[in-house]
Amino acid sequence: MKESILSAKGLCKSFAHNGGQVHILSHVDLTLYQGDFTVIMGASGSGKSTLLYALSGMDRATAGEVLYNGKNIVTMSEKELSTLRSNDFGFIFQQLHLVSNLTLFENIVISGYLSKAITGETVRNYAEELIEKMGIKHIKNHLPAQVSGGEQQRCAIARAVVHNPKLIFADEPTGALNRHNTIEVLNLLTSINEGGQSILMVTHDIHVALRANRILYLEDGKIIGELTLPVFCPSEERSRETQISAWLHSMEW
Ligand SMILES: Nc1ncnc2c1ncn2[C@@H]1O[C@H](COP(=O)(O)OP(=O)(O)OP(=O)(O)O)[C@@H](O)[C@H]1O
Ligand SMILES: [Mg+2]
Repeated sequence: MKESILSAKGLCKSFAHNGGQVHILSHVDLTLYQGDFTVIMGASGSGKSTLLYALSGMDRATAGEVLYNGKNIVTMSEKELSTLRSNDFGFIFQQLHLVSNLTLFENIVISGYLSKAITGETVRNYAEELIEKMGIKHIKNHLPAQVSGGEQQRCAIARAVVHNPKLIFADEPTGALNRHNTIEVLNLLTSINEGGQSILMVTHDIHVALRANRILYLEDGKIIGELTLPVFCPSEERSRETQISAWLHSMEW
């Protein structure tokens, strides 16, 4: 029996619009499990990013609760949230938010230094390993503006995982990458997941979704479908893709 890592109940998110309210998430109930690689799919505008932000405490839900380690993220103080984000969570966003006057290496390690769980030396060693895996070693002393968008994205991915977060939130992390770099990033996330870290990722790409062992389908701010798969195995990629395509088709994707 899998253990829950994060659990949302009755999660709602509305935005003020034209003097009224638009309801983007409506009463979402969702439990994420320890060690799972969960993917969220759904049409553009269905609320995927909004859900990711609400679950991770990057944005506050309008109603409902999100329990992590027995505490409700929705009502946490900014200080508690910030500690949680530095120690337990990792984030890969569509907007990269790299610090412009720090080198790629500095951008990566600084996130690790904020975590109380690991030493500076461990952070530096792991950062070197990640830089190598992400193929950005030769430019590690460059500033973000001196490298390409794809290289910045790979730096942001290394930064998101350098402190060994228990749960990684990723919003289309490979959206800006070519096929080769996408595979490198997916291999990194898969190996991290095999080490026991949990992942929640939004994607539009079936090839990316193949890595997940659970796929949720969002429509108009509600989870309307769920597909559970065995752990990813490269030799079964074809049949897995066929299975996911058929399921997405049944969701009218
Ligand atoms: N701050 C905001 N104020 C008002 N409406 C918002 C705000 N943020 C998001 N929305 C609306 O909420 C809906 C869901 O947006 P969201 O970004 O979650 O969609 P998504 O599923 O991630 O789409 P995409 O696949 O295009 O990234 C959209 O209609 C969007 O316009
Ligand atoms: Mg989005």
